[in-house]
Amino acid sequence: MRNLVNILDLSTEEIDELVKVASDILENPDMYSDSCRGKILGTLFFEPSTRTRLSFTSAMMGLGGSVLGFSQANSSSVSKGETVSDTIRMVSAYSDIICMRHPKEGAPIVASHVASVPVINAGDGGHFHPTQTLTDLLTINKKKGRFNNLTIGVCGDLKYGRTVHSLISAMARYEGIKFILIAPDELKLPDYVKEEFLYDGRCEYVETRDLEAAIPELDILYMTRIQAERFDSVEEYERLKDSYILNAAKLATAKPDLSVMHPLPRVNEIDVDVDDDPRADYFDQAMYGRYIRMALILMLLKSKGNDDRLAGAVENRALRCRNPHCISRTERGIKHLFDGNRCIYCDQTAR
Ligand code: CP
Repeated sequence: MRNLVNILDLSTEEIDELVKVASDILENPDMYSDSCRGKILGTLFFEPSTRTRLSFTSAMMGLGGSVLGFSQANSSSVSKGETVSDTIRMVSAYSDIICMRHPKEGAPIVASHVASVPVINAGDGGHFHPTQTLTDLLTINKKKGRFNNLTIGVCGDLKYGRTVHSLISAMARYEGIKFILIAPDELKLPDYVKEEFLYDGRCEYVETRDLEAAIPELDILYMTRIQAERFDSVEEYERLKDSYILNAAKLATAKPDLSVMHPLPRVNEIDVDVDDDPRADYFDQAMYGRYIRMALILMLLKSKGNDDRLAGAVENRALRCRNPHCISRTERGIKHLFDGNRCIYCDQTAR
């Protein structure tokens, strides 16, 4: 059984295949309308969502399957103190595949360990959001026609922006990629992401606070929301929330074939005066999410592979993950597993 917890669970060949199938579904939706007849998708959203939950729902319906689940934790028995593990064991008995979003980083790893059906990570805290990245990759394929030789500006909340972490991990595998990481000092890309995907020199990157200076060089500008819900301090969020506001005037120096992307929802970081610009691709991007998720559901339901991500992990009772948002800090009864000093749930180092 295969799961999708991290975008690196998929090889570049599998991503190519997903993009190909999603494109075929876009062209020929009727050919797929019975592909999942009799199958049930469980959608477990312990955090709010519009695009991810509804596009998964629409994807399964478009394949002829059915959907059950909840859209907030307080409508499930989690509100009575049930663990992630027990919740997933139950839903495994009621569905053929599960997608879940959870505020705790690493929760999908706990889920995939106990589930008897494939588990898809639909966002775990500020950690990863691999199906958003699949959506982004389909958009890049449609708008740029390639995954190589691209200068990608990633702007906004690079600290808590899980879509950014997954996008960087995916795109760092391709040739000729340069990242321009645009963020205030307080919201720079975390070291654990840089260490894993950028420090080995496989792609070029620069860090800057200056969006306007970066714009002329970019093939893709990936804007992100400042993630209010992840801040410990309201004052800090208020100070940083409008760090970047892209508007039509700022696009005057951009390449004519720039692609402006955003995982959405947006707050202030893209002015509505950009929406009519032909380079504004973020609504198409959200639309593509349905089709790549259809392709993913088909792939995972057919897959006979195994998930061996815990194979190299060792229980260490003397170590505790230092990340306050890690699932290992709250889930009862799970082992504290490490690969060396790295927590296998959230990828941060232990103290
Ligand atoms: N992009 C994204 O994850 O949107 P939602 O939070 O609405 O699912």
